[in-house]
Amino acid sequence: MSLKLPSEKKLLRVLQGHHDATPPIWLMRQAGRYLPEYRATREQAGGFLDLCYAPSLAEEVTLQPIRRYGFDASILFADILLIPQALGQKLWFETGEGPRLTPIENADSLSLDNAAARLAPICETVDRLSKSLPKATTLIGFAGAPWTVASYMVAGRGTPDQAPARELAARDAAAFQSIIDILVAATVDYLAAQVKAGAEVLQLFESWAASLEGADFERWCVAPVAAIIRGLRARGVDAPIIAFPRAAKTHMGDYCAAVGCDALGLDTSADIDAVRREVGDEMVLQGNLDPQILAAGGAALDDAVREILAKTKNTSHIFNLGHGIVPQTPPENVTQLIELIRTAG
Ligand code: CP3
Repeated sequence: MSLKLPSEKKLLRVLQGHHDATPPIWLMRQAGRYLPEYRATREQAGGFLDLCYAPSLAEEVTLQPIRRYGFDASILFADILLIPQALGQKLWFETGEGPRLTPIENADSLSLDNAAARLAPICETVDRLSKSLPKATTLIGFAGAPWTVASYMVAGRGTPDQAPARELAARDAAAFQSIIDILVAATVDYLAAQVKAGAEVLQLFESWAASLEGADFERWCVAPVAAIIRGLRARGVDAPIIAFPRAAKTHMGDYCAAVGCDALGLDTSADIDAVRREVGDEMVLQGNLDPQILAAGGAALDDAVREILAKTKNTSHIFNLGHGIVPQTPPENVTQLIELIRTAG
């Protein structure tokens, strides 16, 4: 039996089952438009995608929130839609609107052949960060979960209810499955490469878990994420994996057991006590603070943070939001949040 000494990194310690007096904290989208220095570097890069593919600038924006706030973890700066682009689908961002892709209905036009080469700059960003981050900061790599990524690939854009992907899955399940399968294969390769380059923890973003239920949820959300995690373990990747099935309507205990994740991300609507009862004491939970409350700040933020801290005291919990920081968030509200967390013990 090997006895592992607790990690010197606060976030990794929680993932090993140790509870400190205060939880580790990082925030989804902690590098982003709410920070003036991010907007300046994005301008320098030319655009959002140029920024993702420029390792030194992507490294810079990843480090910006670490310098300002000293978060316990840093998430690689990239996007979940870089995989479709690496597979050959056309991707661009409309300013002020969001992602656009040439819609597809099957995997015929996609290929794994050049994917690793196209994603190499992202792994270079990871490599740079693994050398430049402070020693106490954990480096998190990520990818989108296949259902969420496929929902953009089929619709060609973000949609409120993922109707085009649900329609294709119902009309031609084999064609939709072909898209999911190539995403699973590409995601295993990409995440294994991120870990090889220095990522210490991985997060899978299933932002649109809420649009599927029952057998469809099992087939398109659970099975592909389980296959990615199995694929990574089969390659010897042992980094802890955080699954984030945002607003999923299923039982979280069943979900965690089926996908084999090490930690579970909670969205804003999750009832922390109820999820804890379902997943048991060992599972690490992450998140739940409403990004709008962070944007509001003041007494509302104090109250919401204290409530989450009271519910999670002495449990395995990583402090985070229930979804990404919204661009209108005043940077000083993040300072207020960090102070509340660090003085909580
Ligand atoms: O969290 C981080 O700081 C790491 C970087 C990161 C980004 N996107 C940067 C980004 C991560 C982990 C993502 C994940 C992502 N991307 C998801 C899953 C999480 C979620 O938000 O639900 C999704 C669905 C995407 C796809 C995507 N990228 C959309 C729909 C948009 C447009 C909406 C928006 O917020 O602008 C993006 C753009 C994007 N990704 C930005 C950033 C910082 C904003 C781009 C800009 O600078 O204008």
